[in-house]
Amino acid sequence: MEKFDTILAVRQQIKRLRGQGKSIGLVPTMGALHPGHLELIRRSKKEMEVTIVSLFVNPIQFNSPEDLANYPRNLSQDMQMLVEEGVDLLFIPDEKEMYPEAVITEFDFGPIEQVLEGRFRPGHFNGVGIVVSKLFHILQPDQAYFGQKDLQQVTLIRRLVKDLSFPTSIVTVATVRDESGLALSSRNLRLSEKGRKTAPLLYETLLFCKEELLKGKDWLSLKNEIIERKLRPASIEPDYLELVELSRFSLISFPIPHVPFAICIAAYIENIRLIDNIVIREKQN
Ligand code: PAF
Repeated sequence: MEKFDTILAVRQQIKRLRGQGKSIGLVPTMGALHPGHLELIRRSKKEMEVTIVSLFVNPIQFNSPEDLANYPRNLSQDMQMLVEEGVDLLFIPDEKEMYPEAVITEFDFGPIEQVLEGRFRPGHFNGVGIVVSKLFHILQPDQAYFGQKDLQQVTLIRRLVKDLSFPTSIVTVATVRDESGLALSSRNLRLSEKGRKTAPLLYETLLFCKEELLKGKDWLSLKNEIIERKLRPASIEPDYLELVELSRFSLISFPIPHVPFAICIAAYIENIRLIDNIVIREKQN
């Protein structure tokens, strides 16, 4: 695996690869890699001739300094995993390289960022938009791979690519879960043993909501019942539990017949913020 930590050097290598007519897949990460990342890498390796992983804990997408300081970092294990997966190129810039000066450009993703993560983490999507745009400019991927766990992020990146005509196709890869159903996330590493036992309740909640909604249960009473009777008693403090229709990514208060939607949750367990979602595409009556 070739490793680059400067924009200049990696650009020269991208130019060589492009000159050889190679297709390039990019998996952007913030490290603390887990099998969810490996799924993205494997998909890229299957579809593209060259697979690049970027590893950069992007400070400007964290809206709280403690969250940034506590974000798990595990470089030697990450490197070993990337080599084992046969990744061709690792781009691992430091903060000075990515942001020699404070960025003044700002993205405003309009209504998509006023709900869910955008509402609870002001500035987060601006930071994601900036770093993803920079990575796309520097690494010029034909395809970039993102996990469905961050559904709002991938929706917004698809929009960014469309609005700014990036020549990159976005591939969304299904959420990888452990045997308990818990969506894999770098943040899970911070959970205690007890927290790990509680966390699968998030996915169980999503599945229960789906079942009840498809039976015709009223969403607002279902949501309140779940928060008060299931989540809070288990010391899970939700930021939100919402239904989102997927074409405009707007909140809905009941499933609309034949309109695909997602049930999305964000909640704190032991002060660690986890998110998850399930997408429902099948017909509802
Ligand atoms: O999903 C992530 O890990 C990050 O938001 C991303 C896309 C790598 C940008 O920093």
